[in-house]
Amino acid sequence: MAESFVLNTGARIPSVGLGTSQAEPGVVGKAIYAAVKVGYRHIDCAPAYHNEKEIGMALKKLFEDGVVKREDLFITSKLWSGNQAPEDVLEGLETTLEDLQLDYLDLFLIHAPLRSKKGATPTPENFLPIDIPATWGAMEKLYNSGKARAIGVSNFSCKKMEDLLAIARVPPAVNQVESHPIWQQIKLRELCQSKGVHLSAYSPLGKARSPGSERPTVLSNPIVISVAEKLQRTPAQVALRWGLQMGQSIIPKSTNEARIKENLNIFDWSIPEDLMAKFSEIQQVKMLRAEFVVHPQGIFKTVEDFWDGEI
Ligand code: A2P
Repeated sequence: MAESFVLNTGARIPSVGLGTSQAEPGVVGKAIYAAVKVGYRHIDCAPAYHNEKEIGMALKKLFEDGVVKREDLFITSKLWSGNQAPEDVLEGLETTLEDLQLDYLDLFLIHAPLRSKKGATPTPENFLPIDIPATWGAMEKLYNSGKARAIGVSNFSCKKMEDLLAIARVPPAVNQVESHPIWQQIKLRELCQSKGVHLSAYSPLGKARSPGSERPTVLSNPIVISVAEKLQRTPAQVALRWGLQMGQSIIPKSTNEARIKENLNIFDWSIPEDLMAKFSEIQQVKMLRAEFVVHPQGIFKTVEDFWDGEI
């Protein structure tokens, strides 16, 4: 299994990256440093995670200590909802670059098909109608400027992908979406693969340790557990390896050093075909539904509105 996938720009995206969503300040910097030391070369960031300054300091230290050079890393960040107006897109990227202390990103994504008033909290009363072609036009300018070496989207449904591909002069390199054995994204991955768009999986463990959820979890799924037992791996490793074998890059989040290592230890073994086939028996449940966007008088009256009915 390749340790990277080729994007439609010709660049390579390392197949495992460290996710930083909900990685607490005071902890995330150490996690980045530890992850790069053990071999991670791909870090997934976003201003919406409120920790890019600390990540920037960790990256600076990694470069100063000679652990890696900038060109050895693949850094992704995202455009948040308050900067979706075309005239605000460049500023969104520049703020992120300043916080991360970088000159360029390897990948810049529209974080979600969601626009809110600039500077306002992204709650339903502050949402505005979105104009994806206009935002994408501004993203294309960034690509041409070299400050974003690839551009893409996140949380885009099949419908939004098709609409975007119909108007894009620079096609998106990546669609980053929730994907794991319990939400496999079969239709979306097929669409992306047929159009040369790489699918990158966030929450590839299905937010393994989120408390309070009554939904089924990836790591307690009987099929995931039985495959793990047969292969003498952990359920997390099996869920991640499944993602790689489906052809997607994966960005598991962890701030725990042992789990950071565990999640990278998925290259010198594989899930045989007969066991891969078992995953198709798993009942599908979307875990991350973005309920926070819904309001009876708002732009999205139901979660189905936000996901174009594809949940
Ligand atoms: P922690 O940071 O304490 O390791 P996802 O990437 O799917 O959103 O899942 C992230 C959650 O899964 C985090 O809460 C993280 O907790 C936990 N996690 C990460 N790696 C593992 C692992 N190998 N085994 C169990 N839980 C994990």
